Amino acid sequence: MSVIDLPFTNDVDRETRPIFERVRGVIPEVEWPLHAPYVAAINRLKRERNAVILAHNYQVPEIFFTVADIVGDSLALAMQAAKTDADIIVLCGVHFMAETAKLVNPSKTVLVPDLRAGCSLAESITGADVRLLRERYPGVPVVTYVNTSAEVKAESDVCVTSGNAVQIVEALGVSRVIFLPDEYLAKYVASKTNVEIVAWKGHCEVHERFTGEDVRRFRRDDPSLIVIAHPECPPDVLAEADYVGSTQGMTEYVGKMADTKAARVLLMTECSMADNVSGKYPSVEFVRPCNLCPHMKRNTLPKVLHSLEAMEYEVTVAPDVADRARAAVERMLAYSAPLRD
Ligand code: 13P
Ligand code: SF4
Repeated sequence: MSVIDLPFTNDVDRETRPIFERVRGVIPEVEWPLHAPYVAAINRLKRERNAVILAHNYQVPEIFFTVADIVGDSLALAMQAAKTDADIIVLCGVHFMAETAKLVNPSKTVLVPDLRAGCSLAESITGADVRLLRERYPGVPVVTYVNTSAEVKAESDVCVTSGNAVQIVEALGVSRVIFLPDEYLAKYVASKTNVEIVAWKGHCEVHERFTGEDVRRFRRDDPSLIVIAHPECPPDVLAEADYVGSTQGMTEYVGKMADTKAARVLLMTECSMADNVSGKYPSVEFVRPCNLCPHMKRNTLPKVLHSLEAMEYEVTVAPDVADRARAAVERMLAYSAPLRD
C-alpha cells in the first residue's frame, strides 16, 4: 500500500475544526494537521460510497472519534453490522470481527484496512481441534467466543462475547459445556455459574500480561482507586477488580461513576481504551498500565482511506463454512436481543 501524504489546507482546517473541538482533550493540537486531511477525505469517501465505519473500543482515538460511525465492543459491532443498510462496512478492529460482520450481513462488502490484524485467541484453535473435542466429550455443547475464525465458529453450537457469555451458558440449560478458546474467560464464566466448563488453553496476548500484583501495586499508591478489568485477564487480576466486563460494560460502568463521584480508575485492558473512555468522560482520571494490542494498532487513518479508495481488503467466508458459522453467531444474537436494545 502506498502511503500518501495529504496536505493540511485551509479548507481541510475549516471542514474538520468542529471534529477537532470534540477531540481536543484526547488528540494533541500539534498532531491534528497530520490527521485532519485523512479525516476529511475518509468522511467524504464514506458518503460517496455509502459506507459505514464500525470501530472497536481499542481503536486509536483518531479513528474512534473522527471517522467511526459506530463504536463498541464485539457484540455491539456484530449487532450493528447485522442492521446496517450501508453497502460497504469498513471494520476497524481485527479480522474475526470483519468475518462476523460478513456472516451476519452477507450481501454487504466488508473491508478491513489491514488483513494482518489477527488475534492470539483466534490463532489458538482450529476447526480440527473442535472436532476432536466433540469426539472426546460426545453430546456436550460447544460454546465459542467470537474471537475465533469462521472455520471454528462453523464447528460450534453457539457463539458468545465477553458481554453475554455468562447469560448464554446459563440459558443453554445444560450441566456441562465446552467453552473455547479463552481459558481465563472460561474460568470467569465458571465462577459465575453452576455449569461445568471444559476449557481450552487459549490466551489473549495483551490481557494475559496483567497480574494481580500489578493491581495491588497501583492500589498501594492510591487505596481509593476503582479497578475495572476485562474478563480475558488472569483470575488473580479479576479477583482484585471492582468491576469485570466487556469493553462496552467497562465504558458504561465508568459513565455511571462519572455521574456520581470524582474517581480515579485503573483500566486493566488494552491501552487505547483509556484514551477513548476519557474522551467521553473527561471528569474521570485514568491510571494507565499500557499494554497495546499489536493487531488492533495495525489500523491507521491512511490505511482506512486506502481501504475505501481501493476497496481493499475484502473479507469473505467460504459458503460451506459460512452457513454453519452464521447459525452459531445468529443463535448468539437471538439470545442477546433481550440483553441489549
Ligand atoms: P470486547 O467484546 O469486550 O470488546 O472484547 C474484544 C476483545 O478483543 C478484547 O480483547
Ligand atoms: Fe485478540 Fe487480545 Fe487483541 Fe483482543 S486484545 S484482539 S483478544 S489479541
